[in-house]
Amino acid sequence: MILTCSCTNRNSNKISSEVINSAYYQEQYRPQYHFSPEANWMNDPNGLVFFAGEYHLFYQYYPDSTVWGPMHWGHSVSNDLLHWKHLPIALYPDSLGYIFSGSAVVDKNNTSGFGTAESPAMVAIFTYHDPVLEKEGSSVFQNQGIAYSTDKGRIWTKYRGNPVLKNPGINNFRDPKMFWNDEIGKWELILAVNDRVHIYSSPDIKNWTFESEFGMNMGAHGGVWECPDLFPLIVKGSDITKWVMLVSINPGGPNGGSGTQYFTGEFDGHKFVPDETKVKWVDWGRDNYAGVTWSDIPESDGRRIFIGWMSNWDYATVVPTNVWRSASTIPRELSLKAGNGSYFLSSEPVMESADIRIKSDTISLKQLKFTGEKEISTGDVSLMQSELFFDFDFSVNSVDSVGIILENSLMERIIIGYSLLQKQFYIDRRSAGNSGFSKEFAGISTAPYTAGSGLKLHLLIDASSVELFVDDGRLVMTNLVFPTEKFTRLKLFSKGGDGVLNNAAFHGLESIWAVRGEFF
Ligand code: FRU
Repeated sequence: MILTCSCTNRNSNKISSEVINSAYYQEQYRPQYHFSPEANWMNDPNGLVFFAGEYHLFYQYYPDSTVWGPMHWGHSVSNDLLHWKHLPIALYPDSLGYIFSGSAVVDKNNTSGFGTAESPAMVAIFTYHDPVLEKEGSSVFQNQGIAYSTDKGRIWTKYRGNPVLKNPGINNFRDPKMFWNDEIGKWELILAVNDRVHIYSSPDIKNWTFESEFGMNMGAHGGVWECPDLFPLIVKGSDITKWVMLVSINPGGPNGGSGTQYFTGEFDGHKFVPDETKVKWVDWGRDNYAGVTWSDIPESDGRRIFIGWMSNWDYATVVPTNVWRSASTIPRELSLKAGNGSYFLSSEPVMESADIRIKSDTISLKQLKFTGEKEISTGDVSLMQSELFFDFDFSVNSVDSVGIILENSLMERIIIGYSLLQKQFYIDRRSAGNSGFSKEFAGISTAPYTAGSGLKLHLLIDASSVELFVDDGRLVMTNLVFPTEKFTRLKLFSKGGDGVLNNAAFHGLESIWAVRGEFF
């Protein structure tokens, strides 16, 4: 099945009825419950905003190829963060440049004048990347522009006064994330600027004033900073509010290539003061980049919901999919916890993801001792579309390492393990199938972790990805994997002693693409 669409054809996302058949979203490696575009190239999530019952997911999109090119904002909406409906492209490149990453808000007080107080506009802010100026060697090729919609995000009009935030002569000047700050009664914006961030404020989204810079000698600096976010979170179990700053970095991620770090600290509407300067990672896997959070989640809900691009610039353009390229992570709820004299961010799949569990496909296990490798039955649960829970116990036996292996009949396997000796998690995809497309792909990702008297693992497995959440999201690793054949065998392993599993539960998951709703 080949789907093509053209930059200039606004109905290009229309797909003929022949295509809406059993082959829909059934290609090898096509994620079954993660978001991916129907066809062609996607990277960062953009413009995440909740409005009128819909979660909007815009994304960096190139509709003419499966590799990166002139960027548009693709668009999709969902009522539950899981089932997505594709909408036509929201923003096209124009004479000011490509449409790079950015954010969107609901302008409830009509500060911009684009809507009315009764019927507020949605306003998006994004980076205009001018490829002509870039080629000419100019340093001012990235500027911020805005666009608005007064019809629930269906039609977007670019502001005639663009750009609203001009480049002062800095090559990397992009990825604005804006939010309303009640404390100062203004909009605020955090922007990635080389290997720092800049913070700006505005009364009306059209006029921006520089407030401060953050980043020198803070966190990781192995590459350029991109796609920042800044938001308050209440520390779990306390009445302390901290501000959390997310900053993606490429290269220089925790296991090579792209990665996302975070800082916690104080923010008075003008300046961010971090609690610590050391590097902390949102996700230790190779494949969670440019993640940001939804704006305008109702107060009654109160969650901070994150989604990332499930790939890595080290190999994103060559992964072995040929109709589309790239998917998003599962949406995750972020929370802030205190421990060891520090604050740390934890991420867990949003609770809505439990709704796609297939009730009849559930297996549970209790009290199991195992040595070496032990295959365990998953019954009717199809491993490549599943959610697995394991609860290991270290209080009874001493053991060097324990973990899980997903394997196929070709003996291709991905190993997800924890070494008690080295105090680290690892995901080994060296012999996990297709990896010849890039020498950067096969390898072992590791993450330092000190387990207590046991470990709780939560895994989400889809056609080409593994997401690992440890101890209620305290450590996360997201990795792509491209087995030649589906993994069908689940094994437990232990080294240096008997492993003890207190209990485990496995759920088959429904495809979110199985029933295709009405399309535009
Ligand atoms: C991050 C990024 C952003 C930029 C966009 C371009 O992956 O490089 O900094 O806005 O992708 O597609």
